[in-house]
Amino acid sequence: MGSYSRAMHSRTIKNIEHAAKLIREGGLVAFATETVYGLGTLGLDTTSVQRIFDAKERPSHNPLILHVATIDDAKILFNFPNDEVVKRFNLLVNYFWPGPLTIVCEKSSLVPDLTTAGSSKVAVRIPNHAVALKLLTLVGKPVAAPSANASGRPSATSAEDVLKTLDGKIDAVLDAGPCLHGLESTVVDISGETPIILRTGAITVEALRGALPDISIREIGSACLDSIGSPGLSAKHYAPQIAHVRLASSAEIAEHWNSPVAMLIRQETYEQNAPRSEGITEILANNPVSYAHELYAALYRLENTNSQTLLIEEVPSDESWLAIRDRLMRACA
Ligand code: TXA
Ligand code: MG
Repeated sequence: MGSYSRAMHSRTIKNIEHAAKLIREGGLVAFATETVYGLGTLGLDTTSVQRIFDAKERPSHNPLILHVATIDDAKILFNFPNDEVVKRFNLLVNYFWPGPLTIVCEKSSLVPDLTTAGSSKVAVRIPNHAVALKLLTLVGKPVAAPSANASGRPSATSAEDVLKTLDGKIDAVLDAGPCLHGLESTVVDISGETPIILRTGAITVEALRGALPDISIREIGSACLDSIGSPGLSAKHYAPQIAHVRLASSAEIAEHWNSPVAMLIRQETYEQNAPRSEGITEILANNPVSYAHELYAALYRLENTNSQTLLIEEVPSDESWLAIRDRLMRACA
């Protein structure tokens, strides 16, 4: 693969066999999952994995999630420290796989240090998406796939949005339409005394407590950067390319209603005020599931407004909004 080179523009393809062939040859192919698009490559091959870090300009301390099609394929990537952890793994898998849950635990020797950014732990998930599962089966090896966006930018929930930040840097995007959740997987470290949620996401805290009552959440927005954390969470993330992005209370939103700033607001707020120029206003749903589904696409659309300022309306403080609050805070960091 020494002569590896990439075209000026990345191709949009529909053929799963073609996508699998490109990945097997060491290429970079973005593909849809039920959460967001992932940027896939051979996850146990260091040359391929390095290309992912380069294409995304991803900091080398931020590890990648390995995606597999079956539970057996997942198990061989781990080195479970004790029976208690095995029990936890089986429980989570029964409840949530295939699905938007990423499990972190001690890695087996199959997994290169580059994939885990030097950590002794690896992150693995089985996505719940027919095209992704077919692709993983055809590749036949673990596929490393971070979200398919340039580092620091919002995750992409459509093939079009993938190309907004990665065109020419990847070989192809396998277009399978928009993603169901629009929010990344929940990341849980099962290796310690008690399980810890490292990143909130598409599986709610409530649902996880149903499976593991003693699960805790790593402090939201915490800047902890050690090997037990999810290092990718510390830096500025999910940020649209707009000079000033900040959270605003509903009162502040009302105050700025007639100024030419871009706004991301909820339906109920829109209805309480007078109509507003559509070009600079994105209106999202009142409930967190539908809100998440549209969030990243709306952030990318807002980049086209030429506005120097984006006000993002704060969302409710209850737990069902936790993952969204986390993403909004990081978009404004
Ligand atoms: O839904 C998702 O998880 C998507 C789809 C494509 O699967 N992927 C995704 O990947 O969001 P990425 O790279 O954007 O985010 C992965 C998160 C980061 O916060 C990273 O730090 C954490 O998972 N992570 C990965 N490997 C880890 C490890 N070994 N230990 C702790 N955290 C890890
Ligand atoms: Mg990401």
